[in-house]
Amino acid sequence: MKRVAILIGGGGSNMVALADSMTGDHPARPVLVLSHRPGAGGLDKARARGIPIAVVDHRAFPDRAGFETALTAELEKAAVEVICLAGFMRVLTPGFVTRWAGRILNIHPSLLPKYPGLDTHARALAAGDAEAGCTVHEVTADLDSGPILGEARVPVKPGDTPDTLAARVLEREHRLYPAVLRRFVQGDRTPIILP
Ligand code: GRF
Repeated sequence: MKRVAILIGGGGSNMVALADSMTGDHPARPVLVLSHRPGAGGLDKARARGIPIAVVDHRAFPDRAGFETALTAELEKAAVEVICLAGFMRVLTPGFVTRWAGRILNIHPSLLPKYPGLDTHARALAAGDAEAGCTVHEVTADLDSGPILGEARVPVKPGDTPDTLAARVLEREHRLYPAVLRRFVQGDRTPIILP
């Protein structure tokens, strides 16, 4: 069984989708849910599932190096083998990413390489895009630019706001991320394209 940590910063709906997928004959198990925000709603959801939780509050550290040292300590304590970023809103340094090379995944709410960074749905709407979506990719030192492991597309509908579009994309995130993780822990990195 691969030992998976899910790193969150918010509501944790992707964490729930991932954690709930890792049952039965799934080749991985969630061994840690870690938040960089003490108040993250996802922490309660992890607790309710009996998954060990940790908080590494980024504001308690003067710099990224200190924050990441604490992060690494928690991950090592739980003997983590694969890291899933799921709403974890801290940029990771090349040092951290190198330490975990080939073992960190992220989900991003756009069709990468379009719209790396923040405010993806507002940017897609402002550009008049006909479709939007989400991407799961390997994390490398370049933000939102690692090898793509899967994507799912949704239509942009008339009258969409960033919130309505985000909700449509989020529902797809919850299907895509578990599908990619299951393959990834089996060593299969062929991209999954959900319709
Ligand atoms: C998702 O839209 C994810 O793509 C982005 O942050 C959001 C996290 O939502 N990186 P949740 O905490 O998983 O509900």
